[in-house]
Amino acid sequence: MEKQRIAVLASGSGSNAEAILRYFEDSALADVVWVGCNRPETHAGIYKRTRSLGLETTPFQASELRNGAVLDMLCSSQVDWVVLAGFLLRIPEAMVGHFKGRMVNIHPALLPDFGGKGMYGMHVHQAVKAAGCVESGMTVHWVTSAYDEGDVVFQASCALEPEDEPEQIAQKVAQLEHRYYARAIDALIQDAAEQTSLQHG
Ligand code: GRF
Repeated sequence: MEKQRIAVLASGSGSNAEAILRYFEDSALADVVWVGCNRPETHAGIYKRTRSLGLETTPFQASELRNGAVLDMLCSSQVDWVVLAGFLLRIPEAMVGHFKGRMVNIHPALLPDFGGKGMYGMHVHQAVKAAGCVESGMTVHWVTSAYDEGDVVFQASCALEPEDEPEQIAQKVAQLEHRYYARAIDALIQDAAEQTSLQHG
């Protein structure tokens, strides 16, 4: 299988995007070739992070996601896999279909709990705290056009202490995300490569 081309879509700070870029820097399996963000550089830290790793983040408007312009950009960059990392917009049906089995999202909780519309960023960790959970974690799932509803492909959990505030919960979950998201993506790409060689083999 040819080296796979990954695009990352993000809306904010980009710490997961950075971890993914670093992970695949020396990979023989895949490269991050395109990073896009629906917020301008003044409102999103991701531009600085990817620039320091030698890749410019491409800004785009929400309307360009809806009208297919973003899908066109991904196609012209010959992207094989799309990774959502803190991306807050709903993915249109046409793009979901195009990247079926090749587009994943990360959610900062153990889905199906604490998912769905409005469950993003600190809202998630505040809800986890309010529910008195003894653990939280991160979930990697396939992307559908509904928020946080695709099948789960990977989860990692962390223990919570009663005194953990939402900020501490966020830190614990972010550590898991940075450690495991890229590895989960790597495993999915390897699985897909094995399936392809079985079909052709
Ligand atoms: C992460 O917690 C991720 O799970 C969620 O949004 C956050 C993005 O953080 N979907 P960052 O922009 O990668 O720092």
